[in-house]
Amino acid sequence: MATTAETELTFTSREHPSPATPEDRAAILANPGFGTNFSDHMVSIDWTEGQGWHTAVIGPREPLSIDPACAVLHYAQEIFEGLKAYRQADGGIAFFRPEANAERFNMSARRLAMPDLPEEVFVESVKRLVDADRAWFPTVEGGSLYLRPFMFASETFLGVRPAKQYKYLVIASPAGNYFKSGAPAVSIWVSADYIRAAPGGTGAAKCGGNYAASLVPQAEAIERGHDQVVFLDAVERKWVEELGGMNLYFVFEDGTLLTPPLTGTILPGITRDSLLTLARDEGLAVREERYSIDQWREDANSGRLVECFACGTAAVVTPVGQVASRDGEFTIGSGGPGQLTEKLKSRLVSIQRGEVADPHGWVTKL
Ligand code: COI
Repeated sequence: MATTAETELTFTSREHPSPATPEDRAAILANPGFGTNFSDHMVSIDWTEGQGWHTAVIGPREPLSIDPACAVLHYAQEIFEGLKAYRQADGGIAFFRPEANAERFNMSARRLAMPDLPEEVFVESVKRLVDADRAWFPTVEGGSLYLRPFMFASETFLGVRPAKQYKYLVIASPAGNYFKSGAPAVSIWVSADYIRAAPGGTGAAKCGGNYAASLVPQAEAIERGHDQVVFLDAVERKWVEELGGMNLYFVFEDGTLLTPPLTGTILPGITRDSLLTLARDEGLAVREERYSIDQWREDANSGRLVECFACGTAAVVTPVGQVASRDGEFTIGSGGPGQLTEKLKSRLVSIQRGEVADPHGWVTKL
C-alpha cells in the first residue's frame, strides 16, 4: 500500500500468479505481434461524483462485469492512451514522456465531459503495472511493453448526460511490430468517401469513437491491398490529415520536413511532437503546414518529395512507400525507407532505449 504524493489515493495490490506457463510466455515474448497477448495484472481506479477518485487496485487482469445499461455501451463516453515501457541499455526499465500522455489523457477527458485524472496518478499507475508485470517484456529485438490506460463511463444510466461514475483501467501487452507484413515500407489508400474528423468534433481527442469511425475506410484500404487509410480534411476534402492511428511527415529533396498542423481535427501525437524536436536538433527545418493531396502526388512524381513516414507510439516511425487513390497510384522516392526517416527513427529509438543521452529529459525510469 502506498499513497501518491499529491493525492490521497492509496493503491492496494493483489498479487496474481501468472496463469501462463513459462513455455507459453517465452513463446509469446519471442514473437509478440501487437495487441493479442496481455500481462497478468491491471490497474483499476474508480471515480464517483461527489467523492472523486477512489479504490485504486493493482490486481489480476480479469473480465469486468458491467450492467447492460452501462453508459459507455450506449453513448461511447470513453477515452484511452497508448505508451510503452522500454528495456534500457543498462538493463533497467523506462517510459517515454509518460507525463505527455497524462496531459493528453486529460485533454481527451475534458472533450468527452469526463473527470480529470491527476497526472501523477496516471504516471504512478503505469509504473505500478509495469513493476508488477516485469516478466512480460518481449525478448524479440525492438520489443516493448505496450500500455493501454483508458477510462469509461461506468454508470448504469440511459439518459444522455455526462455519467456520474467512471472507471480508469490500465492493461499491458507485450508488443513487437505493429504492421504484420514486416515490409520495409507501407502502402496507403486515400479515403474519398469517408472523413475522420470535422472542425468542432473530437478529432484531437483520443476517444474510441474516432477509431470506430475509421474501421470501414481502413477495411476498404485492406480490401484494395493497402496497409492503412489516409484521411483528408472534412471541409475541402483536399488537405492531408492523418492515418487511422498515426500522424504523417513529408521529407523534401532540400532536406526540409513538413507535417500537417494541429488544427483540432488531428491527434496531437507525442511521437509527432518528439520528432519535431529531434529534427530541429539536427538543424533541419520543419514546417507545420497544410499539404494537399494534389501537391503530394505532384511532388512525389517530380522527385521533390523524397520520403514520407507515419509515426505513432505503436507504429514508431514507419516509411510510406506507395499511395493509392481513385485517381491512381504514386510512389515516394525509392518506395522503401529513406535516409532521413531511418536517421530520425534511430535517434528516437535510441533515446527511448537509453542507448544515448536524453537531452530533453523525456525518459522516466521505473
Ligand atoms: C498508439 O499508437 O498507441 C495508438 O493508440 C494507435 C493505435 C493505432 C494502436
